[in-house]
Amino acid sequence: MVDTLKAETLQAIEAAADPAGLEEVRVAVLGKKGRVTGLMKDLGGLDPEERKARGAALNRLKEEITAALDARKAELQGGALAARLESERLDVTLPVRPASEGRIHPISQTIDEITAIFADMGFVVAEGPDIESDFYNFTALNIPPEHPARQMHDTFYLPDAPDGGRRVLRTHTSPVQIRTMRSVKPPIRIIAPGRTYRSDYDMTHTPMFHQVEALVVDEATHMGHLKGCIIEFCRAFFDIDDLPVRFRPSFFPFTEPSAEVDIGCMRSGGELKIGAYGDWLEIMGCGMVHPKVLDNCGIDPSRYQGFAFGMGIERIAMLKYGIPDLRTFFEADLRWLKHYGFVPLDQPSLAVGLSR
Ligand code: PHE
Repeated sequence: MVDTLKAETLQAIEAAADPAGLEEVRVAVLGKKGRVTGLMKDLGGLDPEERKARGAALNRLKEEITAALDARKAELQGGALAARLESERLDVTLPVRPASEGRIHPISQTIDEITAIFADMGFVVAEGPDIESDFYNFTALNIPPEHPARQMHDTFYLPDAPDGGRRVLRTHTSPVQIRTMRSVKPPIRIIAPGRTYRSDYDMTHTPMFHQVEALVVDEATHMGHLKGCIIEFCRAFFDIDDLPVRFRPSFFPFTEPSAEVDIGCMRSGGELKIGAYGDWLEIMGCGMVHPKVLDNCGIDPSRYQGFAFGMGIERIAMLKYGIPDLRTFFEADLRWLKHYGFVPLDQPSLAVGLSR
């Protein structure tokens, strides 16, 4: 009796074609009104000796059936997965449809190009939040409250944080310097591209714009490294080997000494051309990290030095790609994007070319 039941059940399990069919078999045997369950119920009418032997046999049967059900279930599910994988197969080697409409925004393209150049020099990308505390945006950068430099920034102030701290939309990417120096130990070599905000709007200013920050901190870093790094970047980015680059003394509270960087250009008849033409155009601020800033971040200024620079991304994108009006970057005009945008699969790289 038990043996026939076992043989029949195992056969039915083997024959089940899908998880639903298997479930039917389970209910018919082990369910409330199932055959094994019924036999278990009959045990009560037997005498003690018989009940013990038969009970043990039924328990073994139940275990064997359960194991067979589980095994078949795994098999069926595996089969279902294999069938699904087969039906959803995607040939990633197929060529892209040339009619693809999408374009990469010049800002994204420029960030990718900048990243490719600095990655090649061993920099990694760092990030920080757009909503900053007053401390990271100003105080830690050696710009104390009431310092006149704060007025230069046309800051957007936000309602205070729950703990009472002052919050701002970051006015530059320099707070990422602080976040980085407070979280990792030197040697540091990062760039931080991202959005920045200042309350200003005209032909050459939008309330939101992009900057990229660079920071290097190590034990023997000097102004020569700063200059070499920036000259190398400018020549690679504008793809002009003999591009003149000039450093003019300047002031930033968080660097000492500080400089502004000019590149060679020519202005004629309202047109601007980058290259060795005798005229100059300012493109970024830079300097050696101020010892007070290192100190604010727990880095010993008697052992470590660093350099930093920051530049506007729209500005260098406009110069490189001949885009005349800054405001058009953010008007979301598809015709503009089609004209100035980039084809998605042309990834900027120094080996293949930054832009084609
Ligand atoms: N944060 C400065 C600005 O927004 C640029 C800068 C960055 C200058 C790093 C020096 C060093 O104008």
